[in-house]
Amino acid sequence: MIDGKKVLFSGMQATGNLTLGNYLGALKNWLTLSDEYECFYSVVDLHSITVRQNPAELRKRARSLLTLYIAAGLDPKKNCIYYQSHVSGHAELSWILSCFTYMGELNRMTQFKDKAAKHADNINAGLFTYPVLMAADILLYQADVVPVGVDQMQHLELTRNIAERFNNIYGDVFTVPEAYVGKVGAKIMSLQDPSRKMSKSDENPNASIYLMDDPDTIMRKFKRAVTDSEGCIRYSEQQPGIKNLLDIYCACTGKTPQEAVKEFEGKGYGELKPAVGEAVISVLRPLQEEMKRLSGDKAYIDSVIKENAEKANYYAMKTLRKVQRKVGFPDRIR
Ligand code: TYM
Repeated sequence: MIDGKKVLFSGMQATGNLTLGNYLGALKNWLTLSDEYECFYSVVDLHSITVRQNPAELRKRARSLLTLYIAAGLDPKKNCIYYQSHVSGHAELSWILSCFTYMGELNRMTQFKDKAAKHADNINAGLFTYPVLMAADILLYQADVVPVGVDQMQHLELTRNIAERFNNIYGDVFTVPEAYVGKVGAKIMSLQDPSRKMSKSDENPNASIYLMDDPDTIMRKFKRAVTDSEGCIRYSEQQPGIKNLLDIYCACTGKTPQEAVKEFEGKGYGELKPAVGEAVISVLRPLQEEMKRLSGDKAYIDSVIKENAEKANYYAMKTLRKVQRKVGFPDRIR
């Protein structure tokens, strides 16, 4: 609790271009939860270097992601928006927690297996302990709730296990967090292969809608989206391409799948696809305009970076000092 409010933590990697999946699965829920909770939203740049990055590019993307959080509507006066690398407590707590995490647990993580297969030439220790750093992010702020897409659920479960294990040994040190997964949009699939999630790192640009795509590109990608040969619009696992389009439509319009199916009753895919495109364009347009405006305001973004890093550090240090005492590190002499 901070000032009587429960705490929320979430983050995104500044790796690749953000997709509609990131927006609908995470960022959109951040906006709806932000009044109710004391929120920490991090640009998790420590996580990004588990895969090789071009330094200048990473710095640029990190700033643009931080700006995007604000452009999406998160007020940095009320929400703590900061770079993970500006708060050394993340790395320090991660080390401690890694001593309370088993190799077997990390070996079971599907994201590690996927990434290790994709980057077979660079299976570094950071990639393996990535979920411990994620647990540190969350536990450092004593977060009650963590809004994420479905793909992060396994990491959340591990975080809870680590917190409970630590608490069993040392008393109630950590709040055990709950995941928050939205009803619609928690798993947006690729437009080219609806059996796979829409991903920043997909090599086929037609598979993903990027948040900065212009309206023509968005429309073109939806028109090319892979569907099926059934020709009727139902919300069913048997029609994953159509189901994905309906999910996107519903997440953007606030309609339920039943309402959407009714709306397109008797209509063909040729009508559904542009309607989804239009819905996405109207959600992304204000975001893109605000992004353009904010990117030009260097002094403002710099002040957000500075002030929020100080705030995040303050709360991070409170937890870190407590944990250091609990595990037996000597007190500092002042
Ligand atoms: P990242 O950067 O891959 O994704 C950011 C958020 O977007 C969600 N997401 C999706 N949701 C729906 N459909 C999709 N296709 C889709 N793709 C991505 C993700 O679930 C995530 O919520 N490890 C995390 C970042 C992280 C973090 C944390 C998150 C680091 N520390 C602590 C929460 C709490 C990641 O790589 O997310």
